[in-house]
Amino acid sequence: MFKNTQDNQQLNVDNIPAHVAIIMDGNGRWAQKRHLPRIAGHKRGMETVKTITKVASDIGVKVLTLYAFSTENWKRPHDEVSYLMGLPVKFFNDFVPDLIKNNVQVRVMGLIDQLPAQTQKAVNDAVKDTADCTGMILNFALNYGSRLDMTMAVQKIGRQVKAGILDPNKITDQTIDDNLMTSFLGQLADPDLLIRTSGEERISNFLLWQIAYSELVFTDVLWPDFDKSVFEQMILEYQHRDRRFGGIKTSK
Ligand code: FPP
Repeated sequence: MFKNTQDNQQLNVDNIPAHVAIIMDGNGRWAQKRHLPRIAGHKRGMETVKTITKVASDIGVKVLTLYAFSTENWKRPHDEVSYLMGLPVKFFNDFVPDLIKNNVQVRVMGLIDQLPAQTQKAVNDAVKDTADCTGMILNFALNYGSRLDMTMAVQKIGRQVKAGILDPNKITDQTIDDNLMTSFLGQLADPDLLIRTSGEERISNFLLWQIAYSELVFTDVLWPDFDKSVFEQMILEYQHRDRRFGGIKTSK
């Protein structure tokens, strides 16, 4: 079945990527272009998160994973880090009622216990308050790094081997999936589509294991300018890709 996009193109509603992951980049440049402080870009970026959450949920995306703060982002100036740490507080204060109304469940992955107390509280409260929602999962990567995730998974697996409860010869892809921070997503752990905004074309330590067969789509649009129409373009681009997962195309 097809539905018209905002720009009058045909979106196949039976081929919506179940898991969309986004590297939300370009907030700083958006602000600089307007001679505003960088945090103005993050503030506007937070509004984009609200818009895209609604659009993704309406379109039938099942998991939306957003890279909100990486383990490397601590290197930024103190004021910017503080502002970024305050954003989830603002965001969830404003937006949890809408999330509940739209049946969206909030989840987080990353080293949450290293965040300032009020950020932890905002995040944990949002997870609790939306726990009964059964629609789209809005999964924030916060103080997340994929190498850290993989290192921790290897440590967990190593401990199981040492304890004699896991035979090293029985370690499979599934064992690794089960020990990563995305394990709670089960079959939906691997993104079908990974989007990066702002013209940069790199992965920046995001979901390295999980994107083995993801379709990667890049746009020059800066995150604060990203909107429904650009998101739909990215989904259309995904729908034109030929996903083979290492196999060959089968004729229909
Ligand atoms: C990258 O842009 C963006 C970030 C490091 C932060 C992303 C955060 C948001 C979009 C808001 C998050 C909202 C919630 C609810 C947690 P950049 O600063 O690297 O931009 P630049 O490359 O142009 O400098």
